[in-house]
Amino acid sequence: MKLHPPFPTQPFMAAWEPLLRLFKGLSRKGPGSEASTLRALSLCPLPAQPRVADFGCGSGASTLLLARRLQVPVLALDADGTALDDLWESARTRGLLHLVKPCPGDMANPGLTPESLDLIWSEGAVTHLGWAEGLRIWQGLLCSGGVMALTDATWFDTDPPEEARRAWAEWYPTMGTEAENLQVAQEAGWKVLGHFRLPSRDWWDYYNLVAAQFQPFETDESMVSLIEGQKAEMDLYRRTGSSYGYVFYVLQKP
Ligand SMILES: C[S@@+](CC[C@H](N)C(=O)[O-])C[C@H]1O[C@@H](n2cnc3c(N)ncnc32)[C@H](O)[C@@H]1O
Repeated sequence: MKLHPPFPTQPFMAAWEPLLRLFKGLSRKGPGSEASTLRALSLCPLPAQPRVADFGCGSGASTLLLARRLQVPVLALDADGTALDDLWESARTRGLLHLVKPCPGDMANPGLTPESLDLIWSEGAVTHLGWAEGLRIWQGLLCSGGVMALTDATWFDTDPPEEARRAWAEWYPTMGTEAENLQVAQEAGWKVLGHFRLPSRDWWDYYNLVAAQFQPFETDESMVSLIEGQKAEMDLYRRTGSSYGYVFYVLQKP
């Protein structure tokens, strides 16, 4: 495994290249916070030396916190090598390089040994696989009694405003409600240890970080529509964000 930057980006991320460029250097690539990560961690029963992976870790906001808190190695898997470069640098400046293991790869096919993990963490990334599919693929990697803590975009409102419904039909057509997601998890054999909605502050802290990235790209023709799209997403959240959000789900494999 390659241990130093530059880490490779997976070929299937080519379509995301402008977004990766806009997000380069961001400490967080989706809604979340240290407080929410720690709240979810407090719901996880873990052995003394858990084997931990953070799937779709991005630049590692949660990876760094888990490594610091648990003081065990955290395998940090992402398809975006530039985000792993940022994670490596953050781990280096925090003295955590001995615990953070950047792993360029595909979380749909991580290539890890079955039942080799005690804890799978994933914030804002299972969306790329879909809730049911993510749970199915990752379940086999956990040992019996292993725990998965993950956030996913979720409907809070069963009858959301039409513009929110239209936007999310494009971004995440299979997005479920909390009840639907919990039912899918339980039917797949997971025990639900807890779940909670991320506060809207977690969204605005993330959106403020994103907005601070716009300035150098405002005159770049190739980035105009991407930036307009990001602004529209924030505006949608401002107007209709009570109808959807991220939920942290903490699940245990029997
Ligand atoms: C919304 S971001 C969240 C990143 C990070 N967990 C955070 O909260 O800051 C989703 C992440 O999933 C990664 N990703 C998307 N598809 C992936 C795949 N198939 N395999 C691995 N990572 C993937 C993206 O590169 C991105 O870093």
